Order: sequence, then structure tokens, then C-alpha cells
Amino acid sequence: MRVAVISAEAVPYSKTGGLGDVAGALPKALKAVGIDSVLITPCYWQTKGEHLWDTAIHDLNVDWRGGIYPAKAFYSEANGSPTFLIDAPSYFHRDSIYGYREDHERFAFFNHAALVLLKRIGAAPDIVHLNDWHCGFAAVEIASARRWDPYWQNTRTVFSIHNMAYQGGFGMDDLWKFGFGDAFQQNAFALDGHASAMKAGLAVSDILSTVSPTYAKEIQTAEYGYGLEWLTRQRSDRLIGITNGVDYDVWNPETDKDIPVNFNLSDLSGKAECKKALLEHFSLPVDLERPIFANITRLTAQKGIDLMMQVAGDIIAAGAYIISLGSGEKKYEEFWQALRNYAPQQVGIYRGYNEPLAHFIEAGADMFMMPSKFEPCGLNQMYSLRYGTIPIVRAVGGLQDTVQNWDAVSSSGNGFKFGPYRADRFLERIYEALFAYSDKEAWSVIQQNGMREDHSWENAARKYVQLYQWALS
Ligand code: ADP
Ligand code: GLC
Repeated sequence: MRVAVISAEAVPYSKTGGLGDVAGALPKALKAVGIDSVLITPCYWQTKGEHLWDTAIHDLNVDWRGGIYPAKAFYSEANGSPTFLIDAPSYFHRDSIYGYREDHERFAFFNHAALVLLKRIGAAPDIVHLNDWHCGFAAVEIASARRWDPYWQNTRTVFSIHNMAYQGGFGMDDLWKFGFGDAFQQNAFALDGHASAMKAGLAVSDILSTVSPTYAKEIQTAEYGYGLEWLTRQRSDRLIGITNGVDYDVWNPETDKDIPVNFNLSDLSGKAECKKALLEHFSLPVDLERPIFANITRLTAQKGIDLMMQVAGDIIAAGAYIISLGSGEKKYEEFWQALRNYAPQQVGIYRGYNEPLAHFIEAGADMFMMPSKFEPCGLNQMYSLRYGTIPIVRAVGGLQDTVQNWDAVSSSGNGFKFGPYRADRFLERIYEALFAYSDKEAWSVIQQNGMREDHSWENAARKYVQLYQWALS
């Protein structure tokens, strides 16, 4: 079976969030279970030159908007498996990866170029695995080409939803420019008078998946479906949830090069040293008895920052530290800055994106807050588990599937979780966590329960293989 994975971001070439982690790791995991895969992703201005091994194709002439766009394609295996990076400077050499008025055109182009590239490099893949709204265009192109182009005849598409809240909407008029002029194509995109790339992907792909079993159910409800619940419900017989894995080559306290001292399940002494170094790094007074509550995230409403704003004062009053790494909406950035000004001896903040610091915080913190409003899967809670940092989460999406409440009677559970999106419920769990933290023996059991778990990609990759087989059957 030959699989082509297409994604708008992939580690180590590019990353703004979990999609990058997943798209970078899945092809390598597929290879490990015997599946021949190729990853196609854009070459951004942010993509490091050291990751571009070769120029594989100098003249990828992409027929585009009535002319020819002379793109290039680089080759690399920096993520551990064959990758082509599409180089189209006017679309991808920009200050940031997303956030432009014409993002839909940038990714429509990328999708078409990816399919041109596949044709150029050989026989059609059996499966084209598409990710999020950025890849809705390829789903439609393949579904329509299958009717007249023998090349695509036997190819099946799998469309993975990583976040239903971003749907890639734009005006129907643009569809013509991208070559989507016929009725089938127009219908695929049409949603309440505009075009939606997410809707198109959901409507025409052969199989749908999302990144946790709970989210697969949630997106069929009005609360989490963001206006597309009718469609996920309609296609629920072709929709399944597969929880993301963790790339333990990257996220492993035993081998992590971004942390001052390595540690593992049987010897956690290095974690205490990481904690000390982390407090020093943020110029906070070192008191190892006080817990560090951490948060690493895009600062958007999805991540439950409003709840963190409401409980922060109580955490400070309890004498604990708070360390936050993230950037995003101004009001949230201002909040963390204000909190830092209010309690400079207890609060450490870093505004921006910093990968090594994310590893360092995972290693040095005691607890990780993730009170998300919705969370398709979430990766940081799983990273936290491996680093002996106890997650305190809201019971939604992948957080519900990966975190179990600590139960002192049976000594089971790996963290703390609450249901309703309410600060008082979050705070209850925070106090329970503080109580457990004060009992060193209990705390180390919770840590061990989490560190022992195996969330590696291998399990997830095997489930994807079953999914691909299902798509082909
Ligand atoms: P999402 O994809 O919704 O942002 P995930 O939990 O799936 O959420 O993945 C987020 C990923 O992005 C994690 O690998 C996390 O460490 C990383 N990340 C988020 N914000 C930052 C930041 N400011 N600096 C470094 N890494 C970050
Ligand atoms: C999205 C989701 C996140 C998920 C990630 C990777 O960005 O918000 O929950 O872990 O995609 O699938």
C-alpha cells in the first residue's frame, strides 16, 4: 500500500501547533509498521535550510489560474521518512505561516501542486491522507478527477479533522479561479452562500477521521460541530477517532537535549534539578517545596485561558508558582503580563514561540493546566505524562480520552479532570492536586502511573493502516 500524506505544516519543517507534530511523526510511524509513505508540505520561509536536502524537481510547472506557476520541490527525510516540500515563494515566503486574507488561495495552490507532484513522481498512491481545511481542495480535485483521469481511478482519500473551528471559508467566486467550475465541485464547497474548504473535505472524502474518539462524537453535536454537525452526523458511518501518538524520539525526558538533566521513571532526581534550573531561568526564588503550575499554548479562547485567568489569583494565594509560555490574542498576553507584574516572585512568563523552552518547562514543572473549551486531541497533556508533570484538564476531546482522575483509594489515575466549563470546578481539581502534591508518596505514584503509559505512534499508526484498508475495500 502506498500512502501520500498532505499537510500544511509538519515538524521539523514547520509548526504552529499540534498538526505539525502529527504530520511530521505519522509518516515515520507508518514506515515503522511497513507502509510506504510520502509526505508533501509547503516550503516556508521559516523552513530551515538544513532540512532541505536536495532540489528534487527544478521545474514543477503547475497549471494555475490560467497560466503556469514555476514552482520547485525540495526533498528531505529530516522527519524520518520521504518528504517533498513545495517551494512557491510568492505564496509561502512570508512573515508567518497563516493569517493572510488569501490563505484559501495559498492552500488551494499547494493542494493542486501536491497532486501535480504526485503525478510527476510515479504511480498514483493508493491513499491520499489529507489534513484539516487546508486540504479540502485536494479532496475535491481527486474526487472529480477520478471520473475521467485513469491515474486517480483507484486512489482513495482519507480526511483527518484536527480542528473543526477553522474551516477555511471564502467567496464562491474564487472557486472558478482555482479550477473548480463544475456543478459537482461547486456543490462540494458550497455552505450557506459561501465556499468552505473544510466542508468540501468532509463531504467528498472517502473516509473521515479525527484525532480522538471523544472528539469524533463531539463534532456531531451543535456545541462542537461549528455548523457542520449535520454533515459529520450524515457521514458518521465513515468517521472514526484515532488518538494521536507522541514522538518519543522528540519528547522523552531520558534523552531530551533541551533539558538540563535527563531523568526517567526509575529515577526522578533529575526532575528536581530541572525544576531548580527552570525557576532560576525565570529569575524566581528557588523553593522546591512549592509546586509549579505550567501552561504552554497558543493563547486563544479554545485553550480555556478565561478559566486560567479566573483561578490564577487562587493559585498565587496558595503559594505556588505559575509559568506560562505562549503567544496569541492580545487580551490574554496582557493578562499574563499583568499577573507577572502582580506577583513577580511567583510568576514566570515567556511571550512567543520557543520549542526548547517548551521541553524545559515540561521537565521542570509539577502540574500542567489544560482547561480547554474544546480539544480535538491535545498533545501537551501526553508530553506532560511522560515528563512526570501532572495534567489538570477539562474532560473534553482527547483530554477526556487520555487523562484519568487520580483516585487515592485505588492509587489509580494519572491526573485531574473536571467537566463543566466553570472556574469553580477547575479550582476544585487544582486544590485536589495541591493536596495530593503535599503527600510525596502519593504524588510519586501519580507521576509513575503517567510515565509508565505508552502513547507512542505505533498504536495509532496501526489504526491508520486499518483505516486505509477500510478506505480501499
Ligand atoms: P494545538 O494544536 O491546538 O495548538 P496541541 O496540544 O495539539 O494543541 O499541540 C500544541 C503543540 O504546540 C505542542 O507541541 C506544544 O508544545 C506546542 N506549542 C504551543 N505553543 C507553543 C509555544 N509558545 N512555544 C513552543 N511550543 C508551543
Ligand atoms: C489541533 C487541535 C489539537 C490536536 C492537534 C493535532 O490543533 O487543536 O487538539 O492535538 O490539532 O491533531
